[in-house]
Amino acid sequence: MAVTLVDHPLVKHKLGIMRKHDISTKNFRELASEIARLLTYEATKDLETEKMIIQGWAGNVEVETIKGKKITVVPILRAGLGMLDGVLDLIPGAKVSIVGLYRNEETLKPVQYYVKLAKNIKNRIALILDPMLATGGTLIATIELLKKAGCQKIKGLFLVSAPEGLKKVTEKHPDVEIFTAAIDDRLNDKGYILPGLGDAGDKIFGTK
Ligand code: URA
Repeated sequence: MAVTLVDHPLVKHKLGIMRKHDISTKNFRELASEIARLLTYEATKDLETEKMIIQGWAGNVEVETIKGKKITVVPILRAGLGMLDGVLDLIPGAKVSIVGLYRNEETLKPVQYYVKLAKNIKNRIALILDPMLATGGTLIATIELLKKAGCQKIKGLFLVSAPEGLKKVTEKHPDVEIFTAAIDDRLNDKGYILPGLGDAGDKIFGTK
């Protein structure tokens, strides 16, 4: 299965703090970024490297450098921006592709309002960022627009996923690799994840 549960003790600890009802905006934001860093570490484990000889302090030394496809990070507005800094901390040269989709609260369907993709997306690995993989509708819409633009390798990084959304996405796009810090119980009737984090966008931006 293309789903990796990143259940490292540091991830569990940080996510546990994020679930507290009275967490401050500052702490929530910092922890989202820290977990994004740890997810990035896992999601980039298979990047290809090539050997090269450099001049070291005691003569020539063989080192390894990342080769092959470059990365574009794809935060889904707006909550995905809360994970962007953490990912860029580890991949500072990555190009950023922005996707703006919001969820119609009645139909729960994604509506596209802004898309600006990196150049040469065909030759890049896309890392989609969204704190919550809930119904999967927004993620599927993002995957489909990236594939339409020619992107051949797509991974998604999430703090919390719902089993319903994971099932939908993996059935429709089994080639997309998912990295999530938690798989929670279920969705409520408004499409929120339980126990979840509440509205991640509001918590990251302090709009509640
Ligand atoms: N978006 C959120 O911010 N939280 C959820 O639980 C689901 C979608």
